[in-house]
Amino acid sequence: MSKQKWTPEGWRQKPALHIPEYPDPDALKAVEKTLSGFPPLIFAGEARNLRARLADVAGGKAFLLQGGDCAESFAEFHPDNIRDTFRVLLQMAVLLTFAAACPVVKVGRMAGQFAKPRSSPTEEQDGVSLTSYLGDSINDMEFSKGSRDPDPQRLMQAYSQSAATLNLLRAFAQGGYANLERVSSWTRGFVASSPEGARFRHIAERVEESIQFMAACGITSENTPELRNTEFYTSHEALLLGYEEAMSRIDSTSGDWYDTSAHMLWVGDRTRQLDHAHVEFLRGIGNPVAAKVGPSTDPDDLIRLIDALNPENEAGKITLICRMGADQVEALLPPLVRKVKQEGRTVVWSCDPMHGNTIKSSSGYKTRPFDAILAEVRRFFRVHQAEGTYAGGIHLEMTGQEVTECTGGAQEIGDQSLGDRYHTHCDPRLNGSQALEMAFLIADGLRSERASDGDWQKVAAS
Ligand code: PEP
Ligand code: CO
Repeated sequence: MSKQKWTPEGWRQKPALHIPEYPDPDALKAVEKTLSGFPPLIFAGEARNLRARLADVAGGKAFLLQGGDCAESFAEFHPDNIRDTFRVLLQMAVLLTFAAACPVVKVGRMAGQFAKPRSSPTEEQDGVSLTSYLGDSINDMEFSKGSRDPDPQRLMQAYSQSAATLNLLRAFAQGGYANLERVSSWTRGFVASSPEGARFRHIAERVEESIQFMAACGITSENTPELRNTEFYTSHEALLLGYEEAMSRIDSTSGDWYDTSAHMLWVGDRTRQLDHAHVEFLRGIGNPVAAKVGPSTDPDDLIRLIDALNPENEAGKITLICRMGADQVEALLPPLVRKVKQEGRTVVWSCDPMHGNTIKSSSGYKTRPFDAILAEVRRFFRVHQAEGTYAGGIHLEMTGQEVTECTGGAQEIGDQSLGDRYHTHCDPRLNGSQALEMAFLIADGLRSERASDGDWQKVAAS
């Protein structure tokens, strides 16, 4: 698989899973052509900056925080939703930075996370079988015949929503909202009155004291942009390859191809076959990339996948997002970690504690118990500590909204309350309070990992 032979459309010659057939292929082609002439959403230089930040993560000097919706939707597109998720990610990042003295690389599952692989290609209701909902960039969630037909015009709306979302995120990150001097004002809405909100306020006070101390020493947000601005990157699963191909551009500085739909792209657990279309596409772009690593991953195959995506073994180029499930992570992760270490491959190890812990609740909703999510994170840290490797990141499905989609947490959401505010278009997300609670736990883990003398189990239980 030499890189010279790569073209953005080369994936079309390979078997491709989870890419829908459109009823009108010519209409799809016309939309893809239009998109290929649209402005890029991100620049290659930004993607290279992210790769440099991730190289720090691979080297144990920073932590990757990646989070956002399972599936963004046209219906939930609202500035308040974007702001609330951004704000919780900022809170989590400040907490990790402060509590563990560790720089945090912030990456949203935002501004492009629309297309979904589904476990079944069809859905049945009352004896009627239709194409499954595949994400808002492909079809409509409503269960009626026409709604479920893939419609290429939806790609135009996905592009436009991604552009507007990214524009607001850039404004928040660079326009003063993320100023550390305002850290107290980030606790708003329902999170403010939750137990985690109170814990966060305590941290915020200490951050503010430090900032006042620095100001007295002459370091202020006016003379130090690092206090005023933050870096925030975007990511999504590169599933719908026609869209990703249309968004790919040659960078004039390096002459390399970049997928300009997001800073970071990943391949899902269901589409990471070495000789298939998704890996073929991802291996040719200059962006940092990631692969989901689920229970079926064989250690030798994993090395082959790493080599396909990162043939030069560059630090920061590839992130492995492990999603084994709380019950299996301790058995399945160590052989993979050992193999990668033994073969000398440089990767970022990140934990997705969401996708291996999905169950059906007694009330019929798809949910995830908060305890199982926490348990997987804890065990992930423990495995890395035992193997002498660095647990470098977390990948969460979360929102700043007060949803009731995952059970448990300090608010003790029960099976029977799931229906109160169950808004997700796909998988259940942590709400703002649960996400903060998770960040406190990770801060403990990171602190003990970085001190490297701590007993993570003891810390986590305390
Ligand atoms: C996802 O991240 O929403 C997803 C589908 O994950 P996975 O590929 O790990 O199943
Ligand atoms: Co999901």
